[in-house]
Amino acid sequence: MMERDQLVRRYLNVDGFRRGAMRVLPRPVFDFTDGGAEDEVTLRRNEAAFHEPALLPRPLQGVAERDLSVDMFGTTLSMPVMIGPTGLSGMLWPDGELESHRAAAAAGTAYCMSHASTVPIEALPKTGHRWMQVFVYKDRGFTRSFVDRAAQAGFDALVLTIDNQTLGQRERDTRNGFSIPPKLLLKVMAAMAIRPNWLWRMRERRDFTFANYAAIEGGADRNTLAGRMNALLDPSMSWADVAMLRKQWAGPLILKGILHPADIQIALDHGVDGVIVSNHGGRQLDRAASGLDALPAVAAAAQGRMKVLLDGGIRRGVDVLIAKAMGADACLIARPQLWGLAVGGEAGVAAVLEILRRDLDRALCLCGVTRFADADASLLAPGVVPSTRPKAIAA
Ligand SMILES: Cc1cc2nc3c(=O)[nH]c(=O)nc-3n(C[C@H](O)[C@H](O)[C@H](O)COP(=O)(O)O)c2cc1C
Repeated sequence: MMERDQLVRRYLNVDGFRRGAMRVLPRPVFDFTDGGAEDEVTLRRNEAAFHEPALLPRPLQGVAERDLSVDMFGTTLSMPVMIGPTGLSGMLWPDGELESHRAAAAAGTAYCMSHASTVPIEALPKTGHRWMQVFVYKDRGFTRSFVDRAAQAGFDALVLTIDNQTLGQRERDTRNGFSIPPKLLLKVMAAMAIRPNWLWRMRERRDFTFANYAAIEGGADRNTLAGRMNALLDPSMSWADVAMLRKQWAGPLILKGILHPADIQIALDHGVDGVIVSNHGGRQLDRAASGLDALPAVAAAAQGRMKVLLDGGIRRGVDVLIAKAMGADACLIARPQLWGLAVGGEAGVAAVLEILRRDLDRALCLCGVTRFADADASLLAPGVVPSTRPKAIAA
């Protein structure tokens, strides 16, 4: 198996890993990682938003040593890029969650486990900084059981995803026959047959499933559970549920899927410690604002009283610097780590993190910034300063 540094040289950037993943994964599996909801307008918006801001570097600052570290709820992360939650990572690489977690821990950053992991909560080794992502189900007792398990297993933070009360319409999946529940259409089988390396790698893990759901009625069989997921989720989810989780969970509580600045004060009033400004990677509400466009108004509302994190569309290290300049404390990546995982398991995820670290470090050097934590809006060229972008969504 190729090592991290070989992969860094070979793939050069996140897009290289994306193309690598396209080559190794059956098309329906690749599209599951790559696609978004409906017309994928929001998905495209997420990446495009990072191309708009222009940086105004200030050389001559003496930046021989750079510091990428960030404080995260009392822990120091070595870099401001964490791994966000992704369901069914074990479809890309056997026990994919364990591979990604190992890579994150070795890189000194945080790993957020998805509710839909293919290994159970309890199987994630107690190394590094670990977050657990949960949903609110019609059966609140079931939601609470996830939280209890995360507490028992010593997770560092709880992430409640709030933009998934009903599943977005991901049309690539439906077209590919990767519908939920999956039908073993001839075209799906044909797509798998032309990816022998993936088939061989997955030979002992083709029965991967939603490992955290074993206890529920009807079991965790992925075909039936995926089909029932919409029925389990509760569109009546409200701030009362945030209050419930706040009472139950003693550690940092983070809301994932915030875009509107008016929600920040309410979140603070409910004792929330951080938000992830996110549109679920364009997989839920198509036409939603990009996280980057929504970010400045959210950060302005937070006024440093909570952590403001961002995900969606980060493909380059410099994107993380732009996010910081627009008001984010740190960022999370989802697809980039999945593509790394598909190409090289743990080494692939480590390579993606290393590429982002290297490129962010270079961007800091070229911008004349010593400490990532000090980067602010003064780096942005006028015309794209935060207050001018998010007019439509000002608080
Ligand atoms: C294949 C895949 C599975 C995902 N599964 C989850 C999940 O289980 N829970 C969740 O909160 N978000 C999930 N997300 C959303 C990501 O956590 C994240 O919000 C988004 O993808 C970030 O954008 P990026 O992929 O451009 O980095 C998933 C995303 C992808 C691509």
